[in-house]
Amino acid sequence: MVSLKLPPGIVFLARLLLLTSVYPVFFFSVVGLVDRFSGIAIPTWLVCLVSAVIIPIIAIVRVYIRRWRINRAAARLGAILPPTWRGKRIGNVDTVAEMLESRKSGYTADWFDKMVPKLGHTFLNTFLGEIGFLSCDPAVIKVVLATEFHNWEKGPLFGEQMHSVLGTGIFNADGELWKWHRAMTRPFFSKDRISHFELFDRHTEDVLSKMDERFRTGYAVDFQDIIHRFTIDSATEFLFGSCVHSLRSTIPYPHNDPKYTLPSSTEANRADAFATAFARAQEVIVERSLMGPFWPLFELFRDKSAPYMKVVDEYLDPILKEAVAKKEARLRDGRHLGEKEAEGLDDDETLLDNLVKYTSDPVVLHDEVLNILIAGRDTTAATLTFAVYFLCMHPHVLERLRAEVLEQVGPRQQPTYEDVKAMRYLRAVINETLRLYPPVPLDTRYSINEGLLPNPDPMGKPFYVPPKTRMIYSVFSMHRRPEYWGPDAQEFDPDRFLDERVSKYLTPNPFIFLPFNAGPRICLGQQFAYNEMSFFLIRLLQHYSSMELVPEAFPPGSLPPKEWAKEPGRKGFERFWPMTHLTMYAKGGMWVRMTEAKDSENEQGML
Ligand code: HEM
Repeated sequence: MVSLKLPPGIVFLARLLLLTSVYPVFFFSVVGLVDRFSGIAIPTWLVCLVSAVIIPIIAIVRVYIRRWRINRAAARLGAILPPTWRGKRIGNVDTVAEMLESRKSGYTADWFDKMVPKLGHTFLNTFLGEIGFLSCDPAVIKVVLATEFHNWEKGPLFGEQMHSVLGTGIFNADGELWKWHRAMTRPFFSKDRISHFELFDRHTEDVLSKMDERFRTGYAVDFQDIIHRFTIDSATEFLFGSCVHSLRSTIPYPHNDPKYTLPSSTEANRADAFATAFARAQEVIVERSLMGPFWPLFELFRDKSAPYMKVVDEYLDPILKEAVAKKEARLRDGRHLGEKEAEGLDDDETLLDNLVKYTSDPVVLHDEVLNILIAGRDTTAATLTFAVYFLCMHPHVLERLRAEVLEQVGPRQQPTYEDVKAMRYLRAVINETLRLYPPVPLDTRYSINEGLLPNPDPMGKPFYVPPKTRMIYSVFSMHRRPEYWGPDAQEFDPDRFLDERVSKYLTPNPFIFLPFNAGPRICLGQQFAYNEMSFFLIRLLQHYSSMELVPEAFPPGSLPPKEWAKEPGRKGFERFWPMTHLTMYAKGGMWVRMTEAKDSENEQGML
């Protein structure tokens, strides 16, 4: 059967036409009736004029009625609305254009951070009459994610915007469907499973030997590229029991080297095409989310994510088919699953093995797998990329961390779960990286019913939230505000997670640090991620004693523009260009060179 999939824009317009045609049809009917029963002929020009303006007028009237109702509801609850941003153009279209532009050519959350000094930590923005909240206030985020969790969901609009990429997987699900996903996935993140360090070790060895090969011949390496290969190989093996072996293919050469254009193997092409398409598809859905309910108008004749998802699916489908085939073979062999067996988990069972017990539906399998892959791959790779950046920029931190590695684990031994737990400075370095570059910098929720949010002014009235209203919260901005972290909030200083600043800032207000979200939807892979990142960094520092950025290897246009030097905060001195689709990444990669540790250095480090 051929399935006819209409572009989102056409579906949107058809729906809009259906809804709005009610008014002109009603008007024409009234004109016809007046003409027929009273004999008063309404002039054609008037009929045409009214038909042309009736829809915009009704739209404007509805916006004003909604605002009036909101103000009345706020007053009824003794609340107010937070300060509102007013753009220069009707409907605030200039603001959305500015946000889109800033996403492409600015620094992460630029627009947001520009607003905070003018409007406060929680404010309102409107787009074509639609109200949206924005906040970087930990008290507000706490209400949304934890205390009033039942009143905040991802929502139908988010679901629609993300559907062509995330389907109905865990990230895009609410209510009972979300609970099902969560219950299904949670057992895979038990302590035993997430401490399978042999798996990380094999892939780490691959990374180190590939990097050695390049460094020994004088080349810089794009650490962001190679670490994405590491996390996808580890994630596919852990989750599906079938590694995609992206580390087996050739890693890229710098843009200014003749080998840059060397044709890569078919395998490399497939892995690279998958990674690029995966990133592009995520960019499409983030742009959709900035355009609010009107996003389909920008995809009138085609679903912009479709060509990228075709490449992604070509990569995933064979893995899924193999898992279903394995299950069918088991059933053919007469190994039926009893109820108990279906519920329990074997030690070597993967997430996919467990999933296929419940369903062979290719769509459910596809969505679940893709969601966990996005969750597990890009976030961890981003954190390790930024951690290496900070180690390049702060040699004294690298030196201190190496000393801890050598003292706790030694120069060659494989780290254990206990080692990772004992290494406080390592955890502080990872946390400080997550503070300055949280891989999910901005997130969003929708209110279900009306509600109240705290006003930072203790004497002020609470903020009123209407039902079905969007909240964008910026963890990125919150993590850098001096009000919450102290005057040096923009500086990279892992000690803030170890010294008196912990009891001054973090202990009394734990919601100021939310790289993994909070409340019932807190990241399921948090401990897995800490283990994987810690393991990798230990191995990296056992192997290399120093590292540096190689600016000349970054592709043209991927280093921060010179004019940023005048800007305040990290934007003014950062040496790479942070960008965001669903998660953060470095534009053009993170080109580095590292020096292998000599045995004598390792021995000295252990003294
Ligand atoms: C540094 C690494 C990571 C960071 C910073 C991170 C961050 C986050 C954040 C912020 C969310 C909430 C998203 C939302 O609700 O809108 C989330 C959810 C989630 N994460 Fe992670 N994550 C990381 C690693 C991982 C890993 C390695 C896995 C699995 C292999 C994973 C699995 C999940 C899942 C399944 C959810 C959905 C939870 C739900 O909606 O109930 N994460 N993560």
